[in-house]
Amino acid sequence: MTLTEKTVREIAIDNPATVPVFESLGIDYCCGGHRPLSEACERAKVSVDRALELIANAQSAGEPANKEKWSRAAAADLIQYIVERHHGFIRKEVPRLEALFEKVIEHHGDTHKELLDIRELYGAMSQELFAHMMKEEQILFPYLEKLEAASFGHGVLPTACFPSVEMPIARMLAEHDDAGTLLARIRSLAADFHPPESACPSYRRLYAGLEDFDQDLHRHIHLENNILFPRAAVLERSLRDRRQ
Ligand SMILES: [Fe+2]
Ligand SMILES: [Fe+2]
Repeated sequence: MTLTEKTVREIAIDNPATVPVFESLGIDYCCGGHRPLSEACERAKVSVDRALELIANAQSAGEPANKEKWSRAAAADLIQYIVERHHGFIRKEVPRLEALFEKVIEHHGDTHKELLDIRELYGAMSQELFAHMMKEEQILFPYLEKLEAASFGHGVLPTACFPSVEMPIARMLAEHDDAGTLLARIRSLAADFHPPESACPSYRRLYAGLEDFDQDLHRHIHLENNILFPRAAVLERSLRDRRQ
């Protein structure tokens, strides 16, 4: 299979060094990562040759990315990383960006009405994310850790309040899509996070913060959608098969 036939998700999992390339080109590698590279380039209006060149450069740049190569790590380690790195980032950034919104809207809300819409969308998205993270941390992730422990040990499927792990995963995937849609609307209203020429330092910090938030959420969702959740489904199936 050629690289252009591979899905964006497969390329990102095989080599996490390609993630910044997809981000810089506006290619969706998390919620829409199931598309072959050629199709994803077409959707992002990017030349396939340019994408292949950047991917090759990222792959040869090598080593530092390997520390983020999660496809072979234990699920428990990946969960710990997601909670500390990505959930922690959201909990830290939301209050900081909300305070910046207050300040910027007070001074620029009259002349830049889009800021009001962006704040409303950001508020809705962050509320949904807080509820989402709580479900992951209190229900789904502990269950995944039990699944992994069972597969290494006694082999008995852990008890749960759902018939299959596929159910909470389907819910989490839908919520990721919703967050991705809200972020795409924010990005579009914020002109791809380019502040106006006249923007003050707080305005610039707000847009830079929103851009970091966007990037971090894509990496976060990529780890869950493309690595952790498929692993959970495989673990559950193998434990069921062992029982039969
Ligand atoms: Fe998460
Ligand atoms: Fe999630």
